[in-house]
Amino acid sequence: MSLIRKIVYNKKINKKACNFTTPSHSQGDFVCPDAEKMLGRKFFECDYSETEGFDNLRAPDGVLKELQYNISKIYTSKNSFILTNGSTSGIIAAMLAVLSPNDEVLIARNCHVSVYNGLVLTGARPVWFLPERDEKWDIFKSVTPDIIEKNLKANPLIKAVIITSPTYEGVYSSIPQISEVTKKYGAVLIVDEAHGALCNFARDYTGYAPAIVSGADISVHSLHKTAGAPNPCALLHIAKSSKVSAQAVQDALNLITTTSPSYPLMTAIEAVVEFLFSDKGRTEIRKLYDMVEDFITKASNIEDVEIYSGFCDKSKILLRMKSLPALAVAKILNEDFKIEEEFSNDNSLLFLTGIGTTKRKFDTLFNALKEISVMEVDSDFTAEKTLISLPQMIYTPREAYFHPSEYIDTENAAGRICAEVVLPYPPGIPVILPGERITENNMNFIMTEKIKVTGISKN
Ligand SMILES: Cc1ncc(COP(=O)(O)O)c(C=O)c1O
Repeated sequence: MSLIRKIVYNKKINKKACNFTTPSHSQGDFVCPDAEKMLGRKFFECDYSETEGFDNLRAPDGVLKELQYNISKIYTSKNSFILTNGSTSGIIAAMLAVLSPNDEVLIARNCHVSVYNGLVLTGARPVWFLPERDEKWDIFKSVTPDIIEKNLKANPLIKAVIITSPTYEGVYSSIPQISEVTKKYGAVLIVDEAHGALCNFARDYTGYAPAIVSGADISVHSLHKTAGAPNPCALLHIAKSSKVSAQAVQDALNLITTTSPSYPLMTAIEAVVEFLFSDKGRTEIRKLYDMVEDFITKASNIEDVEIYSGFCDKSKILLRMKSLPALAVAKILNEDFKIEEEFSNDNSLLFLTGIGTTKRKFDTLFNALKEISVMEVDSDFTAEKTLISLPQMIYTPREAYFHPSEYIDTENAAGRICAEVVLPYPPGIPVILPGERITENNMNFIMTEKIKVTGISKN
């Protein structure tokens, strides 16, 4: 039986326990009727605080230490950390563990907004680079070792490199090659692997090894994205070969995360990792990938449909219809077929699958695409421009965050220095960050009538 479940079970049968502690629902003695209707009592029955036997996630020395140790064995890491605040908290903690104010950090700009949060909190100075674009699909390509080397050579003080692999759209970068370069220049490699939570368990099948066994120092996995855990269960791993200290990561997590981590979520994390590691879990993952492959084979036979076939995570399906703008296809899928895609850009649609995706869903999508491919559609969708050049950074994210700011009419914003994150969500990749100059080119991303700006310079 799982470690946390065992303790909850023992507490329940030990009637002597009489806790005058948080949480005050007292393991379900009181549950708001509406909450009970939605969640049932079980959720509350396993919701404890750090009382006797439950350990403390800030300084684990009991059941949570054992659990994190077991997880580290499963992931072949030096240390693994349970995150009940998502990969967001893992990314920020990783940055706080390795970066100090004014340290330089090389970052692929197609990063999640949490990296910006980490920049404000650490005070590190970002050196941004844009991975190449794949215009046909309107996505970023892999990060190449060459672009990393070029930047590290030009900025020898860079202390860490942050990349996203797989990307939101599923594109992998070659971690073995990139880590060779980061090691050569003595930089810590942090890989946002939030979307790659299944890859540790599918290595034999996909041939792709997770980042921390391929040379990265730290990675994060969102278990809720593809692995079947509830929002926002996640893990952070430090590689066996890494010099990053586990205590530094623990200290950083203690700085930014709640002192009341959710035991229901930790129970879910334990259960999901155990499941994925079991024969049954591996069979389920294989079944998922087989279904994806089967879908791709069938959908590719629809004349109008093309499926992305680059170096990418198998749980993502990126497709386009040759005769219709992707946004028009998305509208028809949403309105006529009640199918919601994860995301669509100018040229392609992204469908996220995971451990819970059923054959029925694949069939529904396939049938819808088949119908759309023979529809007469009048489409007047105009393409929205994606970030294609790096904005000019006037202040670092931290400087801008603490700089005086004001709201102005958006129509007057071109030329001013932005003081808020302009962020289409999904995918959660910032287009303009605080401290960067707003240009005419990126004005169409600003959806609000007013925008927060800082500084007085127009030039
Ligand atoms: C690439 C990437 N990294 C990190 C995150 C943050 O993950 P979480 O929701 O687990 O905090 C996301 C969430 O959308 C993401 O897309």
